[in-house]
Amino acid sequence: MADTDDIREGASFGLDTPASTEGFYLKGINNSDWGLKNRMSRIFNKKSGNSVMLAFDHGFLMGPTSGLERVDLNIAPIVEHADCIMGTRGMIRSSIPTDCSKPVCLRTDTGTTILTEMNHNVLIAEEEAIRMNVSAMAAMLSVGEDETEHKTIANFSRLVDIGSKYGIPVMGVTAVGKKMARDARYFAMASRVCAENGASIVKTYYTEGFEKVVACTPVPVVIAGGKKLPELEALELCYNAIQCGAAGVDMGRNVFQSEAPAAMMAAVAGVVHDGLTPQEGLDLFETKKNEA
Ligand code: 5RP
Repeated sequence: MADTDDIREGASFGLDTPASTEGFYLKGINNSDWGLKNRMSRIFNKKSGNSVMLAFDHGFLMGPTSGLERVDLNIAPIVEHADCIMGTRGMIRSSIPTDCSKPVCLRTDTGTTILTEMNHNVLIAEEEAIRMNVSAMAAMLSVGEDETEHKTIANFSRLVDIGSKYGIPVMGVTAVGKKMARDARYFAMASRVCAENGASIVKTYYTEGFEKVVACTPVPVVIAGGKKLPELEALELCYNAIQCGAAGVDMGRNVFQSEAPAAMMAAVAGVVHDGLTPQEGLDLFETKKNEA
């Protein structure tokens, strides 16, 4: 085991030297197989290099949370506005039409709910992902809990083995233990552990100092939106993350709990792909909302 008595926090992140994208437009992916690159290019827009992923996997943890009571009514009508959809096999199969042409990022782990201790996750069978023609598989990697860290890292590593076999990118969904501060230091650690274990995409949370999280993670980083915020604040979150080098969002509640989810998708896409400021995004939101 490596010495643990002289761990020095990283300080030199090369922030003014962007990672190379020579050979392929997404950082860290150039040495991957054709199939994996092809799947990544279904998820990430070639022009902006970014993605607006729509996350609706919350039910396996939370049950029918607000905005996801009826995925067939709440989510199916807005998938056309997403670059990629992220959900569980049960909700995608039952509630998203089979002719949906959007790439799917399948939540490939499952586990305990918010009613008990979380993070006791296991992987589902890889055949499910292949049968569902997915473009990526997602699993949580949680750092900082004695009980669960090793389990989620083992799950994650096995999922990357499977993904490598079939050319399917794996997205690491970062989590940090209850005792950890939700700051750049711990999200950088969780993100880096995902990348070290072979993630092709890392999903994490925006925090102060986020440019360091992005810089030390050698593959595309997308942010979760977190709890519902007023639209302008959610768009500020997206904008700040993109300014720090994020490759987009994998957003749920700030879209499906918005009073106008399709308009919010358009506004988020404006910020993520077209360089809109948060205020310009909000103006677009209001315009789209009033058109509906
Ligand atoms: C939780 C997840 C969710 O998909 C994630 O939190 C994104 O949703 P939100 O934008 O609502 O935070 O992976 O494990």
